[in-house]
Amino acid sequence: MSLKNINFYPMLVLGIESSCDDTSVALLNCSKQGFFVLNEITASQIAIHKKYGGVVPEIAGRMHAEKIVPLIEETLKKQPLPDVIAVSTGPGLITGLIVGVETARNLSYTKNIPLVSVNHIEGHIHSVQVNNQKLEKNKKQQINYPALALIVSGGHTEIILMLKQGQYKVLGKTLDDAAGECFDKVAKLLNLPYPGGPQISRLAENGNTKAIDFPRPMLKQDNFDFSFSGLKTACLYYLQKNPNINKNDFCASFEQAIIDVLTAKTIKASLEYKPKTIILGGGVSANKKLRETLKIKIAQELPTVQFLIPDLKYTMDNAVMIAVAGYYQASKKKFTPWNKIKANPVWEL
Ligand code: KG4
Ligand code: ZN
Repeated sequence: MSLKNINFYPMLVLGIESSCDDTSVALLNCSKQGFFVLNEITASQIAIHKKYGGVVPEIAGRMHAEKIVPLIEETLKKQPLPDVIAVSTGPGLITGLIVGVETARNLSYTKNIPLVSVNHIEGHIHSVQVNNQKLEKNKKQQINYPALALIVSGGHTEIILMLKQGQYKVLGKTLDDAAGECFDKVAKLLNLPYPGGPQISRLAENGNTKAIDFPRPMLKQDNFDFSFSGLKTACLYYLQKNPNINKNDFCASFEQAIIDVLTAKTIKASLEYKPKTIILGGGVSANKKLRETLKIKIAQELPTVQFLIPDLKYTMDNAVMIAVAGYYQASKKKFTPWNKIKANPVWEL
C-alpha cells in the first residue's frame, strides 16, 4: 500500500469503536486548527443489555455485527473517502473488538486506505480535544505535556502520566472493580436499572453526602492504585442491616466516597509528577459532582495547571475520540497492515 499520497494536514480520519456496548463510527477532519467532526453515528445497545442488568458479551458481538456496516455507509454518505482508518483494537470485549477490527481490515484492503490500531484508553484521553461548536471559534483544545489523566469508566480506573503524546506510564489502577462497575453494581443492589452511574448521581443530587460513613478504600495508602470491591461489599452489608434507607442519602454518601478517593489520588499524583495538564475522561467523567470536585481541588492545590474534560457527549464510548488518537499515530506513520491488525482485549497502555 502506498502511503505517499496521504495528505497529513488536513487529514480525514474514519474512527471505529466497538469495544463494549456502543457501535460508533465517525469521520473527522484533523488539522492544525483542531479536530472537527464531519459526521458521527453511535448505536447504543443499552436498551438491550438493560434487561440483563449489564453487558452480555455474546449479544454485544451480534449487535455490533448487525450495525457496523450500515453505520459506516451512513457516515461516509456524501463524504470523501478517509485518508486513514483508526480502529479501537483493545482493551475491551473480544466479541465486540473483532467486529470493529474485521470491518476495518476489509475496508482498508478493498479501498486501499491505511490503518491505525488505537488503544481505547488512549482514545478516552484524547476525547478532551474534540472541537465542539463553542470551541470552534476559539483555539484548539491543546494538551500541554507532561500531562496526567484520570480515566474512569465501566471497565477501567487508571491514573496515567504522559511525558509527551503517545508516551504513557500507568501510575496506578484499580486492583479489582472499576469505578463505573462499582456504580453499576451498587445501583443493582438498589434495584436501579443499568447503567447505574447516571441513576445514582441523579438520586445523589437530593441526598446528604454525610448520612452514611462509607469506607474510602486505599485513600491513605502510599500509591496511586484503587480498589472498589470493598466499598461495594460495605454497601451490600449496609443495605442488609438497614433495609429502609433513604435512597437519596445512600447514593449521595456512596458517590462521595468514590469521588473522595478518585480526587485525592489524582491530586496526590499531580503534586508529585507536576503535570501542565490534568485530564479527566471515561464514562464516569460524565458525573457532574466528580467534574466539579476535581476542578475545585485543582484550582486550590495546583492553580497553574490546566484542567481538561470532554464534552458530556464524548465521555461515553465514541468513535470520535478513536479518530483523534488515530490521527496522532497516522501523523507519525504508525500504520498497521490490514493483514496484521489484531484485537487485543487486554491491551495495556
Ligand atoms: O466509558 P464508558 O461509556 O464505557 C466503558 O468503557 O466502560 O463508561 C460507562 C460507565 C458505566 O459504568 C456508567 O455507569 C458510568 O460510566 N457512568 C457514570 C455516569 N454516567 C456514566 N458513573 C457515574 N456518574 C455518572 N453520571
Ligand atoms: Zn470506554
